[in-house]
Amino acid sequence: MGSETDNNGGPRHVAIIMDGNGRWAQARGRPRLFGHHAGARRVREIVEACPVSGVDYLTIFAFSTENWKRTQTEVAGLMGLFRRYITKEMQEFVRENVRVRFIGDRVRLDRKLIVLMDEAEELTKHCDGTNLTIALNYGGRDEVARATKRLAEDVAAGKLDPKDVDEETLPKYLDTCVLPDPDLVIRTSGEARISNFLLWQSAYAEYEFIDTLWPDFTSAEFKQLVASYGGRERRFGGVKS
Ligand code: IPE
Ligand code: IPE
Ligand code: MG
Repeated sequence: MGSETDNNGGPRHVAIIMDGNGRWAQARGRPRLFGHHAGARRVREIVEACPVSGVDYLTIFAFSTENWKRTQTEVAGLMGLFRRYITKEMQEFVRENVRVRFIGDRVRLDRKLIVLMDEAEELTKHCDGTNLTIALNYGGRDEVARATKRLAEDVAAGKLDPKDVDEETLPKYLDTCVLPDPDLVIRTSGEARISNFLLWQSAYAEYEFIDTLWPDFTSAEFKQLVASYGGRERRFGGVKS
């Protein structure tokens, strides 16, 4: 899908790399999981800030394909947190008219978690307010590799002619196939890298790297970043008209 916005110049799709939970906990002498719980509690306020900010799509990075490298305690704690989070927030999302989707590879996830993810998607299917996409066991390279595999399968099955493969074709196989490209990508915690997030989709996104640790990120800061985006001039490789 295209990247141009029709939102009075504001970003229609904002993606967030929610980073800094561990350091936030460490600064308080608490275990990393304490930071993840505090981080999860920030999400609702940001989701609620979307309609008033003109943001139709919010995509958040919750767990990367590389995050399995963490200790078993942290990974298990995070998976438990995701299960509880979805269970607890599901009805709230319906009430707030939020459509929930998940991107990432589900294969490695716990069966109970997958069931909850499916339920959340099903329950909010009719919601036409904010589109919240949660990236869970998501990696941009992994996503492109999985997409390529399915594309190759379609070629092998005679459903797709290699001559017709162009840059409009591959995105149809990505997890994000129904989403527009992100206009603005925010990363908290002072790291200026994208860590394998939405690689294909962010080709022309604007980036904001901010020092705030995710559990301290507020709707006021979100609104301010969204507002300052309006002043940017995106050229998509062209020249100013
Ligand atoms: C982001 O916070 C959450 C996840 C990656 C799951 P971190 O856990 O990466 O926090 P820092 O970067 O160690 O502070
Ligand atoms: C990126 O944060 C992934 C998520 C926010 C889920 P990381 O903390 O895992 O990234 P690196 O290790 O700093 O690149
Ligand atoms: Mg981190």
